[in-house]
Amino acid sequence: MFNIMQGKSWSGVMARTLSATLCAGALSLLTIGSAAAENAYGANYFPNVPLTTQDGKTVKFYDDLIKGKSVAINVIYTSCKDECPLETAKMAQLARIFGDKMGKEIFFYSISIDPKHDTPAVLKAYAKNFNVGPGWQFLTGKEADIKVLVKKLGLSRGNDLANKDGHTASLMVGNEPTGQWMRNSAVDNPVFLSASIGSFLGWRDDPAARKTYAEAAPLVIDQAAYMFQSRCSACHTIGGGDKIGPDLAGLTARRERNWVARYLMSADKMRSAGDPTAVELSKKYKTARMPDQNLAGDDLKLMLSYLETQNSATGKTAQKEPAKKETTHVH
Ligand code: HEC
Repeated sequence: MFNIMQGKSWSGVMARTLSATLCAGALSLLTIGSAAAENAYGANYFPNVPLTTQDGKTVKFYDDLIKGKSVAINVIYTSCKDECPLETAKMAQLARIFGDKMGKEIFFYSISIDPKHDTPAVLKAYAKNFNVGPGWQFLTGKEADIKVLVKKLGLSRGNDLANKDGHTASLMVGNEPTGQWMRNSAVDNPVFLSASIGSFLGWRDDPAARKTYAEAAPLVIDQAAYMFQSRCSACHTIGGGDKIGPDLAGLTARRERNWVARYLMSADKMRSAGDPTAVELSKKYKTARMPDQNLAGDDLKLMLSYLETQNSATGKTAQKEPAKKETTHVH
């Protein structure tokens, strides 16, 4: 069941969203439709193409996935090493913040733009790696159908600055019944994203939502901490256990500073050069590759000293080998 705005005008929501755009500069609002009664972005606009879910079930895009619902949609391909794992990890955080709303008040869809490779089984394994819960489906289909769909959704290249992999790291959020759609960056801070999506969908005054936001990690303003939160925390904790990547507590004890520096410049380069530690790590953490961070100069220095400070703060948990950690942690 979706949430229909009650006693509030959509234009009010639009104005708030727009001011969020102006303040934060992080949202770009698609002016799809106005608050008009007629929905230009309904059955006549979206193709009702058949897609296949990660469970091998055939669904129709319009009828089964978006009609009457609030949705968040992005495009992925599972062999992508660059932005996609980060996008998916951030969406997983977002889904965790939304909690019970997932599959009831909002539905997530990740559509593969590499349907030849991304069979339902591949998508299922990928979803499992990110601990994907209810209300989020991974979809594949006919290449031509997906092309049209992605274009209609405003998710094809050319709408945004395409990233290295040639697709945009955007998350389209829409409320089909009202015809309101908003484009977000899929790699934005999930706490910020959850608040703006909640507000866009009219959840703003929902006490349950407020509680969930309050429980989520607070926004940090310290530059290094911010960098860690926005670029690393989707996959790493420092002292909180493994996530998609290893717990970084004890890092300074188990790795040379110089190794970490090179790794943060390009983990990919080190893996392909056969660096034994990098190769061993990638074997152990099969679920996702550490995306190239391209950290250099002041950013690199800042991140290294942040890791060092945090490591000495959690010093008592430092161990030589993450594998021998005695604490149990949730994957
Ligand atoms: C999309 C997930 C993801 C993101 C984002 C990410 N990492 Fe990683 N990281 C991994 C994975 C997975 C590994 C394990 C090696 C592998 O499989 O590539 C790893 C390994 C590492 C290691 C080596 C750990 C060890 O035990 O030696 C360090 C250091 C590290 N990451 C730091 C960072 C920092 C700092 C950031 C942010 C600037 C970051 N990572 C962003 C997933 C990620």
